Amino acid sequence: MKKISIIGAGNVGAQVAFLATIKELGNIILVDVTEGIAKGKALDLQQATPLLQSSVKIQGTSDYQEIKDSDIVIVTAGVPRKPGMAREDLLATNAKIVKEVVSNVAKYAPQCILILVTNPLDEMVYLAKKISNFPKERILGMAGALDTARFQMFIAEELKCNPHDVLATVLGSHGDTMVPLPRFTTVNKKSITELMPENKLSGIIERTRNGGIEIVNYLKTGSAFFAPASAIIAMVESIIKDQKRTLPCCVELSGEYGYNHVLVGVPVVLGRKGVEKIIELPLNQEEKKLLAKTVEHVKSHYPDIDKLLR
Ligand code: NAI
Ligand code: 2OP
Repeated sequence: MKKISIIGAGNVGAQVAFLATIKELGNIILVDVTEGIAKGKALDLQQATPLLQSSVKIQGTSDYQEIKDSDIVIVTAGVPRKPGMAREDLLATNAKIVKEVVSNVAKYAPQCILILVTNPLDEMVYLAKKISNFPKERILGMAGALDTARFQMFIAEELKCNPHDVLATVLGSHGDTMVPLPRFTTVNKKSITELMPENKLSGIIERTRNGGIEIVNYLKTGSAFFAPASAIIAMVESIIKDQKRTLPCCVELSGEYGYNHVLVGVPVVLGRKGVEKIIELPLNQEEKKLLAKTVEHVKSHYPDIDKLLR
């Protein structure tokens, strides 16, 4: 059995643990700064295993020694948004949490594949990379898989088709500057630009960009977790089962798309070794401009993060 550690046993962390248990992806260590939350949820989940016919072992703890030899570590520790907040408003609070968490991951599970989830996502992956110095194949962030799923779902709803038949990708940062790509979005081999009028498509792009806050505004005291956890599980499953699925993830670029030393969302092939390949899409001038804008936005936060590391 593989070993999966989840740091942060809140809404997203617990849902990831639940899905990983159902799919028997590995034994699970749930870590939370509030030990009772981790222990209570782990015990509850363990008691579900006879009903789920799952042979997974789940343990809750606040002791990082327990994550030793993890194959995958997923970081969901941190505070979520409240209505009226941008993801960037979480930067100072969550940077402190992620700094502490990733230092422990680097100490106790230095060989793991590390998946960041905490917001603001792209900035947290940069911070984690700086702290852990993990090779770029073993450090990545979840956002594009979620943003793409939202884009696919909204398109399927509009066209009254099966969401599985919508092939799409969303590039860039997990925020207002994300770049849904209509030119690379097809339904049954037909470009989406032929299938719906421009005003409908721009409405869907806008709703995708605001997909997170739409849910925050309903929940009032937390953010989305079912779709985020499902996106994380798609990534984890592709790595553990060496499925080599292509999913957009936040990874370090080294020349791809013309950028260096920046961590941002692009399509990648996920397999046993982690990030096995970055897929470079042939972007047109307009798409390149949008990607440049999202890269500039993410990079504008790097000096603040560098300051926190001093
Ligand atoms: P939550 O509040 O339900 O859970 C967070 C958990 O982290 C809590 O149990 C808390 O005790 C724990 N925690 C706080 N400080 C910690 C520390 N130093 N060490 C260990 N655990 C600690 O929040 P939720 O909904 O699970 O979201 C977690 C994070 O994930 C938020 O920052 C949220 O914005 C982000 N998120 C990102 C998504 C993405 O697409 N990248 C999607 C959904 C959520
Ligand atoms: C979302 O997009 C909270 O970033 C998270 O739902």
